Amino acid sequence: MKDLTILKPDDWHLHLREGIVLKNIIKFSSEFFGRAIVMPNTKNPITSINKCISYKKSISEGLPENSKFEPLMTIYLTDETIKDELIEGFKNDVFFAAKLYPANATTNSSQGVKKIENLYEIFEVMEELGMPLLIHGEVTDPKVDIFDREVVFIDKELLPLIQRFPKLKIVLEHITTSYAVSFVQENNLGATITPHHLHINRNAMFFGGLNSDFYCLPVAKRENNRIALRKAATSGKKCFFLGTDSAPHLRQWKAFCGCAGIFNSPVAIESYIQVFDEEDSLDQFEKFASLNGPNFYNLPVNKEKIRLVSKSNEIPKFIEVIDNNKVVGQIKPFHAGEILNWQVEGIVN
Ligand code: NCD
Ligand code: ZN
Repeated sequence: MKDLTILKPDDWHLHLREGIVLKNIIKFSSEFFGRAIVMPNTKNPITSINKCISYKKSISEGLPENSKFEPLMTIYLTDETIKDELIEGFKNDVFFAAKLYPANATTNSSQGVKKIENLYEIFEVMEELGMPLLIHGEVTDPKVDIFDREVVFIDKELLPLIQRFPKLKIVLEHITTSYAVSFVQENNLGATITPHHLHINRNAMFFGGLNSDFYCLPVAKRENNRIALRKAATSGKKCFFLGTDSAPHLRQWKAFCGCAGIFNSPVAIESYIQVFDEEDSLDQFEKFASLNGPNFYNLPVNKEKIRLVSKSNEIPKFIEVIDNNKVVGQIKPFHAGEILNWQVEGIVN
């Protein structure tokens, strides 16, 4: 049996949702992650200090007793974002970072940014403040092929942005292409990589008929991209770090409207370490999971450790959503029904 003890990891890109779903799923992140950057694309997006404070409160109330999990909150940028609100929120530790969704790029992004140039004044102050900008890097032009949207975004939107704001601290979120892997390294950006983009390529969405279980945005691409992502994540390079993009949707909605998002927080650590094991890079796992993120964001690393052991781990087919002792819904986790080779054994002090 193999085993590995690493500093407690953090999740640098997480969707926690609200209400009953939040209450049911938060334990999957809070158990073995120290911190998480919480995405602001709630139904009514987190566009102000007040909304952010009340969202953070509902997250804290949903945490298991004595949990040390720390949610790092974000502001959802729109064309109307008020500069002073952003500055005040950042200076008072309400906002840890700002999230840019191009309008209509993904789930709950209809109020996102219509024209990046409209935010130049905001980026100027963020650059001055050292406030991180987290980017969903896809163009939304329907004429652009869905599999090319990340690459076109990099060329048309991201390149001009970094040329104009060379000191702006940027994370290109959930990268899916070899093109993004190279761009991030060449331009000193940070990038999160999800477990699902390390495991699946675009075939997964079409295997045995249209399968929305594997539909997320940005969509998984061709196999050569998956290989490049695995190489990047397991390289230990400082610019690549863990961000699950765990994005739960109730099964009835996922099956009905095929909404984008994969729920991986119940299996994320096991899913990632399996990739490192397969790539013979277990010695790089702690960098990706627990060191590179804090280094990028200038935060201390977590104090506690977790111990992982290689043993057969059957993943449940569904996670139940419970309200008042009644099952009110189900969410399918990533790797549902599969057997993974690793398990988190627990916290080590
Ligand atoms: C996310 C969601 O459901 O909120 N969906 C997804 O496919 N990743 C939004 C996002 O990060 O794009
Ligand atoms: Zn996301």
